[in-house]
Amino acid sequence: MGRFSDPQDPLFQALNSSISFDYRLAPYDIEQSLAHARMLERSRIISADDLATIERGLAEVRAEVDDDRFRVERGDEDVHMAIERRLTEIVGPVGGKLHTARSRNDQVATDVAMLVRAHSLTAKELLLDLMRTLADLAERHLDWPLPGYTHMQRAQPVYLSHHLLAYFWKFRRDLQRFNFCLTATDDLPLGAGALAGVNFDTSRMFVAQELGFSGIAENSLDAVSNRDFVLDYLAAAATCATHLSQLGGELVLWSTEEFGFCEVEDAFASGSSLMPQKKNPDAAELLRAKAPRVVAKLVHVHGALHGLPLTYNKDLQEDKEPLFDAIDTVELGLRVATGMLGGIRFDRERMAAAAGDELIAATDVADALVRRGVPFREAHGIVGTLVRTAVDRGKRLSELSDDEVRELVPQLDGSFHELLDPAAWLESKVSEGGTALARVREQLAQARQLLA
Ligand code: ARG
Repeated sequence: MGRFSDPQDPLFQALNSSISFDYRLAPYDIEQSLAHARMLERSRIISADDLATIERGLAEVRAEVDDDRFRVERGDEDVHMAIERRLTEIVGPVGGKLHTARSRNDQVATDVAMLVRAHSLTAKELLLDLMRTLADLAERHLDWPLPGYTHMQRAQPVYLSHHLLAYFWKFRRDLQRFNFCLTATDDLPLGAGALAGVNFDTSRMFVAQELGFSGIAENSLDAVSNRDFVLDYLAAAATCATHLSQLGGELVLWSTEEFGFCEVEDAFASGSSLMPQKKNPDAAELLRAKAPRVVAKLVHVHGALHGLPLTYNKDLQEDKEPLFDAIDTVELGLRVATGMLGGIRFDRERMAAAAGDELIAATDVADALVRRGVPFREAHGIVGTLVRTAVDRGKRLSELSDDEVRELVPQLDGSFHELLDPAAWLESKVSEGGTALARVREQLAQARQLLA
């Protein structure tokens, strides 16, 4: 057509065509086109009759898309051309007026910004569901002790509520990151034209208001080359997927015979085709495994944008598949995490038995010495010796006799065995943000307030 005398090579078409994936933008593209057409009419660039015709045609295209009746044709390079082609088939040459004062360059940036905005809102909703589930679980397991770990070694006991709420705050930060994506998509690219602006006195603010943007991109060159909002979404999604992965990894571990802290519902597990006794926590494993995939999408788009001179370059088409894949992965992951946690069962006895390991009282014994005036570093060494002696003599800490304790740690003067009462280790963590029950209750109240 036009400037070209030869048809495109099919191999080039295969490389160049984006319709197989950007068809997903169709609802945004149509909504955008309706707003654009209304603006053209208000600005007296097209007539009221033209507008009515275009609106009727776009409504028909929209219906075809909604009911899966829309037929993509061989020559449709991308969703924008497919929709315009179909509009023109329905309403005739007037359809060709829709592209007045618009380029696919500002059009595609606008569609993608609209999509990122919509999915940031979805992510926020899904995160709120997950956070609510975590808060409910915390409330139901308020005073269930389990060991807290560092280096995967039992460190200090904590309440399960405290442990679950740790994830609440991680997901809360994810929510804030997705919230930022709403700011990042708030300036309308449309109206920038191909790159330099358009030859008509359009009203971009009108279109912005129609489409729910609060302002317009101030610079046309920036508008058509900006994909920061894609990076922002992908960065938020990557961190969120990493949190889901950490949660999944922990549930995998806790589901083992060795830990036995929890069991996921059958609905989120699978059996083995060979070993009849097995129940595998596949959902948790896949949450664990998906994170690098989302991180890779972020890296992919950073790579595509790297070193790009202004303004639109076809490289920008490469933003979509990674974005769509990250959206699907993170939204499914959030739904699965909420579903799985909704039906999880924890084993109070197994957790309590592990949390009752006396060795994890060591910090409390050291702090008791500190209260008696021993500098912390010294107390650390003394208790270390105490632990080693007990281990060497094949005893639990509580099995050391008063004489043995007095010989090793004269400062402890008889209070030693009281310190080994498991309940004391948890309730001693009274500092703000600590695991003492009163503090967890405060934290839960904060969480509830946030959700309200
Ligand atoms: N399919 C293209 C994309 O996704 C639309 C913009 C095409 N613009 C152009 N000048 N070829 O980026």
